Amino acid sequence: MSIELSRRLILTGAAGATLAGATRAVAAKKEEAFPPEALHLDHALLGPDDGIALLARNENPYGPSESALRMVEYAGKKGAYYPGQANITLAEMIAERHGVDPKQIVITTGSGEALSAIAVLYGPKGPIVAPRLFWDTTALYAARLGMAEIQRVPLTEDMGVDLAGIEAAVTGGTGLVQLCNPNNPTGLVSDSKTFKAAVKRMAAKTTVLVDEAYMELADDPDGNTCIDLIKKGDDVIVSRTFSKIYGMAGLRVGYTISSEETAEKIRGTAMSWIAGTGLAAAIGAYNDHAFLDFSKSKIIEARQTIMDKTASLGMETLPSQTNFVYFKSGKPANEVQKVMENEKIIVRGQYMDYTDWTRVSMGKLEDVERFCNFLPEAAGV
Ligand SMILES: Cc1ncc(COP(=O)(O)O)c(C=O)c1O
Repeated sequence: MSIELSRRLILTGAAGATLAGATRAVAAKKEEAFPPEALHLDHALLGPDDGIALLARNENPYGPSESALRMVEYAGKKGAYYPGQANITLAEMIAERHGVDPKQIVITTGSGEALSAIAVLYGPKGPIVAPRLFWDTTALYAARLGMAEIQRVPLTEDMGVDLAGIEAAVTGGTGLVQLCNPNNPTGLVSDSKTFKAAVKRMAAKTTVLVDEAYMELADDPDGNTCIDLIKKGDDVIVSRTFSKIYGMAGLRVGYTISSEETAEKIRGTAMSWIAGTGLAAAIGAYNDHAFLDFSKSKIIEARQTIMDKTASLGMETLPSQTNFVYFKSGKPANEVQKVMENEKIIVRGQYMDYTDWTRVSMGKLEDVERFCNFLPEAAGV
C-alpha cells in the first residue's frame, strides 16, 4: 500500500475499518482451525464418540455444572500463572464445610493422586489390608513399584466388606487398612455404626484410609462418613473427589482430610501441581447445591431404571448407593462386555474371579435405557 493511500485511508477512517476486517478474518481463520476439528481425528478428542453409550468408568455426564464451566473459562485466561492461591481457597471451602482446619486438607490431581501417594507412604511399612474387591488401582501402583503388598480379605457371603475379617487381619505390622465406602465395584455401603466402630478400633493400631469417592451419592452421607473420626483424633484419612457427583472427572480434582501431620506427609509425597482450571472449577461448583441435587436425582433415576430391569430379569443385583450397579447376569462378564460393545454400549468386564458379575455405570438416561433394552439379548435371557 502506498504512503499516499495509507494517509487517505487514515484520514477517512477506512484504515480502522480495514484493520477490523483483517482482525475478523484472522479470528475466523483461527476458529476454522480450532481443534478438535482441525486435528481431523476419527474419534472424539475428549469424552465418548457420538453414538457410544459409555457406561464403564463411573463418570457423571451431567457435569460439569455451569458454575464450574464459568470458572474454567476464567482459569484458562489466567493459565500463565501457577495457581497457588486457588488451592488455598478450595482447601478453606472444604475445611469450612467439614469443620476442620484447612491444613488438614490436601488437594490433588484427582483423588487418585492422593491415594497413590498414601499407598507409597504406608506400603513400605507393611501390607495394605483391604477387602478382596475394592478400588485397588492405587495400591497396585505402589505394588508395581515394589513398595506395597496387598492383603485381600474375602467378602462376606452377601458381597459386603467383612469388617470382622479385616480387623482380625490387622496387626502391629500392618502398613495401612484401605476401605472404600461405598465400595467399588459392589456399590454397597457398610452399616454405619459397625463400620465406624471397626475403623476406630483399627485406627488405634494402624492408619485407616477410607475412600469416600461416592459418598455424596449415598442415602446418608453425613451419617456414613468417617470424617467425624478424624475430628476426634483417630488415625483416619478420608479421600473424596470431584470426579463423581460433581461430574468433573476430566478436570482432575480430589482431596484428602486427615490430621495436619498426615496431611503434611501426603502433600510431600504427591507428585504434581494441580491445574488452575480444575481448582477454579471445583471452587465454582463446590457449594452449587442446586446442581448437586440435580446430579444426584438423575443418577438415582438411572440407577432405579437399571435395578428395575435387572430385577425383572431375575438377576441378583446389589443395592447400589453409587453411580454404578453390580449385578449377576449369569453370563461371563467379558462376554457381556463384548456383545454390548458391538452395540456401542461400553460396560466393565470381569473383576478377579467374579466371572458373571457385570458393573454398569450411570450415564445419561437415554444411554441407560439402551443398555436396559439390550441386556436380555446380551445376557441371553
Ligand atoms: C473408589 C474410587 N476412588 C477413587 C477413584 C479415583 O478417582 P479420581 O482420581 O478421578 O478422583 C475412583 C475412580 O473411579 C474410584 O472408583
